[in-house]
Amino acid sequence: MLRASFVLLLLAYKSHCIVNNVCPTYEDYFTIRDNPRCWYDVAADQNATTIIISYGYGVESHKIVTSDGYIITLFRIINYSVSVERKVPVLLQHGLLYSGASFVGKGQNSLGFILADAGYDVWLGNMRGTQYSEEHVTLSRDDIKFWNFDVDDISFYDVTAQLQYITQVNPENGKIIYVGHSIGATIALAYGATFPQEAQNMVKLFIFLAPNAGTKNTKSLLLRILLLVTESIVKVFINTEVAKYLSNGSVLDQVLRGICLNDPILMKTCVTFLNSIILGPQRETDASAVPVFFNHVPSGTGWRVVKQITDATAIGLRAYDFGIYNLPQYGTLLPPLYDISKIEVPIYIVHSRGDWCITPKDSELLYNRLSHRAKIFGKLEITEKDFNHNDFIYGRNVKKILYDKLLYLINSLRYN
Ligand SMILES: *[C@@H]1O[C@H](CO)[C@@H](O)[C@H](O)[C@H]1NC(C)=O
Ligand SMILES: *[C@@H]1O[C@H](CO)[C@@H](O)[C@H](O)[C@H]1NC(C)=O
Ligand SMILES: *[C@@H]1O[C@H](CO)[C@@H](O)[C@H](O)[C@H]1NC(C)=O
Repeated sequence: MLRASFVLLLLAYKSHCIVNNVCPTYEDYFTIRDNPRCWYDVAADQNATTIIISYGYGVESHKIVTSDGYIITLFRIINYSVSVERKVPVLLQHGLLYSGASFVGKGQNSLGFILADAGYDVWLGNMRGTQYSEEHVTLSRDDIKFWNFDVDDISFYDVTAQLQYITQVNPENGKIIYVGHSIGATIALAYGATFPQEAQNMVKLFIFLAPNAGTKNTKSLLLRILLLVTESIVKVFINTEVAKYLSNGSVLDQVLRGICLNDPILMKTCVTFLNSIILGPQRETDASAVPVFFNHVPSGTGWRVVKQITDATAIGLRAYDFGIYNLPQYGTLLPPLYDISKIEVPIYIVHSRGDWCITPKDSELLYNRLSHRAKIFGKLEITEKDFNHNDFIYGRNVKKILYDKLLYLINSLRYN
């Protein structure tokens, strides 16, 4: 298999015992095998369920069918030693090309474990097209048509199915607290704007971390470059094999991981590159998080999702732009904007000054469009220098900077 990282090669060397796979600095990676400063991190090596189990938690995989036939997976984390009477449900929703593994990649400092330990019923979403949600009632992941979906589909079908399912399984402990990173927030906004009453019935609070609700002020070069090409890619290739190129295990995926995990210099180059074209600068990258990141990112998606997200840098977040087919589809020449002022569920927004993808300006624009009722908890700006888009998930001090505050907020609503 070409997903050959030096990590995995090392595993093959000494396959019977546990081998170091992460180090605190790039320099340490040169001597990873015998370097006492390096260690083995299960999150750099295994999938989401194995990670959860290896920390002593229980995990349930729930496969649910959306009304358009996709079979998506929810993971549920169980801390057996917590016995609170009412386990309030929390749904954690990952960003574009991430997966549910986002919330268990930092050991005891992971948001998923922090919430499970505090007595919440923690569910991890996996959007259609990610490696954990590659099934469909009639289509296979090898079918080109499987990959023909956009942000609207994820919002209307996946979010609806997840919320309804969790409500059904845990009906007695109040409404769901929904935490979304990046497009994990986008899909909740589109869902809430489209089904405001349903959202109010099922969701107690939306917490949005670096929410993407239009990125006109983005500093991300990648988003701007993709804007120029995704339209053509979709037009020309959506009915060809290229439709599958963003899936887990695709050639692109393997090349990226093959290069970025191949040696410490390339690893550092990849991180610097990603930071400078999309995520934002980091003052000190946590080198031990890099193999974890590349073990779980990129998880899969489809091109139309990428097109819709990059379109949002030009025209704001709207329904999918079908070009000349907008008129028959929507009755208007331009795709309609989502009217997020219809959402009455409280929305707590967190953004970071150091995030180049979702800038404070765009976050402010989003906040100003919310209804008064949605704004009751206000918002939070992370001012730590160089806390970038990825640091919301894999940042060195993210527990102290962010997760502890979120837990405090969530606890404060517990018995309301
Ligand atoms: C994770 O990997 C283990 C084996 O390493 C496998 O049994 C399990 O099914 C995988 N989980 C998922 C969700 O793919
Ligand atoms: C579960 O929660 C308890 C109490 O918060 C904590 O002591 C324990 O470390 C947690 N983790 C596991 C795997 O039980
Ligand atoms: C993702 O792709 C890799 C190959 O690159 C494969 O080893 C892994 O099993 C795939 N994951 C899933 C959940 O299909």
